[in-house]
Amino acid sequence: MNTADGGAVTASAPPVVEVRGLRVTISPRGGRPVVPVQDVDLRIGPGEVVGLVGESGSGKTMLARAVAGLLAPGLRPRVEGSIHVLGHELGSASPAERRATLRTDLSYVFQDPNAHLNPTMRIGDQVAEVAGPHGNRVEELFRSVGLPTTAEFARRYPHQLSGGMKQRVVIACALAKDPGVIIADEPTTALDVTIQAQVLRLLRELATTREVGILLVSHDLAAISQFCDSVAVMYSGRIVEDGPTAAILRTPRHPYTKALMGALFDIHAPERRPVAIPGSVPALEDPPPGCRFGPRCGHRTASCEQEPELIDAGSGRRSRCWNWEQL
Ligand SMILES: Nc1ncnc2c1ncn2[C@@H]1O[C@H](COP(=O)(O)OP(=O)(O)OP(=O)(O)O)[C@@H](O)[C@H]1O
Ligand SMILES: [Mg+2]
Repeated sequence: MNTADGGAVTASAPPVVEVRGLRVTISPRGGRPVVPVQDVDLRIGPGEVVGLVGESGSGKTMLARAVAGLLAPGLRPRVEGSIHVLGHELGSASPAERRATLRTDLSYVFQDPNAHLNPTMRIGDQVAEVAGPHGNRVEELFRSVGLPTTAEFARRYPHQLSGGMKQRVVIACALAKDPGVIIADEPTTALDVTIQAQVLRLLRELATTREVGILLVSHDLAAISQFCDSVAVMYSGRIVEDGPTAAILRTPRHPYTKALMGALFDIHAPERRPVAIPGSVPALEDPPPGCRFGPRCGHRTASCEQEPELIDAGSGRRSRCWNWEQL
């Protein structure tokens, strides 16, 4: 990935995550093997927030979980390509080394805070458990995620908190091991709209103040545009466009990115009606030949019968469209 306009610090520092040529094959029981992630390169610098967007079924969760080593064994996943997390190459590491790196250096935040929290344990104790012997850090961690630091609060159980507070406790747990990387898969979808922005702003601040690299998975392009330095747009298992957020949103160079933006309601242009993208993400079992977005694309030409590569599209961007200059 490329760094943001304001990300001068991250431009030179070594990335906290570097993924090259990632390909994930899953073989769910009773189904044919399919490839939900293919040919993915991804780079996250320290302090950088990278947004991963795309419609439902485009492969965001598969990619995020592959990086975090969290693909469900029931899918019988095969992961190819290289994944570096803080300099450790996970592909060639022994399973024990890989687990150690992922356990100490990477935190994963799920969509539903209840998936993380033990309903029968006080929240202070849950954070303390992850923080280990530095138990006195609980107060500091609660403060850094904007939660009350009183003893009364720490003694509460998860059910005594609102959804937004629960997700903050989850983020406090995620920070407790001082990770270099946080992967958050739709961390705010389960929350009220007003709380969503608070939690995303918190992640943004933590990236900056603690130099954590964050992969923020979302299908909400508006949220991505506000909180991410750079964006990777995913379609049918591939990254179709990536680069600095501001540049991509100002002048998208892939018809899919353009279509995603057209489907947004723009508060600054309320007279413009959002346009839904016709059709749907192709089934992995039966992808269209050539460009995978071709059947839904209004810019299609004869050259699209050959599948595009991710090519340099100027200003630090890459596009998987042969015709990006005509957009
Ligand atoms: N449990 C599963 N069994 C079989 N195929 C699956 C399974 N989970 C995902 N897939 C396949 O992998 C593809 C990518 O799924 P993934 O969950 O990564 O999409 P996503 O972009 O995260 O979507 P969403 O926005 O809905 O979370 C799906 O289109 C589906 O074909
Ligand atoms: Mg998902």
